[in-house]
Amino acid sequence: MTASATDSDFAAWMGTIQTRVESALARSLPGPQQVPVRLHQAMRYATLEGGKRVRSLLTFAAGELTGADPARLEDVACAVEMIHAYSLVHDDMPCMDDDRLRRGKPSVHVEYDEATALLVGDALQTLAFQLLAEPALANDAAVQLEMLRTLAVASGSRGMAGGQAIDREATGKTLSQAELEFMHVRKTGALIGAAVKLGALCAGSCPAALEQYGHRVGLAYQVVDDVLDTEASTATLGKTAGKDAKQGKHTYVSAMGVARARAFAEELRCAAHAALDSYGQSAQRLRQLADFIVLRKF
Ligand code: IPE
Ligand code: IPE
Ligand code: MG
Ligand code: MG
Ligand code: MG
Repeated sequence: MTASATDSDFAAWMGTIQTRVESALARSLPGPQQVPVRLHQAMRYATLEGGKRVRSLLTFAAGELTGADPARLEDVACAVEMIHAYSLVHDDMPCMDDDRLRRGKPSVHVEYDEATALLVGDALQTLAFQLLAEPALANDAAVQLEMLRTLAVASGSRGMAGGQAIDREATGKTLSQAELEFMHVRKTGALIGAAVKLGALCAGSCPAALEQYGHRVGLAYQVVDDVLDTEASTATLGKTAGKDAKQGKHTYVSAMGVARARAFAEELRCAAHAALDSYGQSAQRLRQLADFIVLRKF
């Protein structure tokens, strides 16, 4: 295949998964007329019609590689997207990053109110675990428990929530590069790694190589997010650009400048590819996703 045929094939695959996950999310979330209506509408507002669905794409790519049932991948992808959407709703609140724009729309606390935003996060988080606990998700209870544990660790104080706490504590202080990596691996890398691992677990187990791949693309994801905050526009990102510097955030850009941050992301992209060396063509989607994560413009 030529490069452009490969690109258009990848774009078509992405579109198919994104559409599939969108419908699955719409079905899995409480209906907009279900009481309490305001909370349910806000949960749908936070989760639907937005986002690149990168975590879902990783889940599907890992699951396709390991031979997982697509119906299970769909549930797992929804669970991860719900945790991610919750993390964004809380990240934008005035007590956190105080951001009024998300996915090209007013943030949840702006469109609704702060109390609703808080509850949207709570409810999305528990709904994610409810989805993972559905009996149809696995034949083997031990595997299902491993899936629940994986998402819990990735979301909690040793994962995303912990990374967010460090992000807050670090503002205005000096961080070493090791501390910066520690923060990024948790606040963003952990859930991305879990998306890969959960996709593989849908087929029964996750090979170490895929865990390594997930770790590398997970860190790369936040490094690139830091770069885009300085290089891309608010219109392209659908969220306020240039906020990290204004708020005194520790990022790869503040630590090493844009050029070296980009070079580091490129190193991580190569390392993610290297983790897949033992696989042939079956890992092509994961390779393409590593490229997308590092080379994306939004
Ligand atoms: C933004 O995540 C926040 C980070 C964890 C870096 P995404 O860039 O995946 O946001 P959406 O889901 O596409 O909106
Ligand atoms: C967010 O990091 C990480 C989360 C866990 C939500 P950022 O604060 O950099 O994400 P954006 O730039 O607001 O999307
Ligand atoms: Mg933040
Ligand atoms: Mg933010
Ligand atoms: Mg950011």
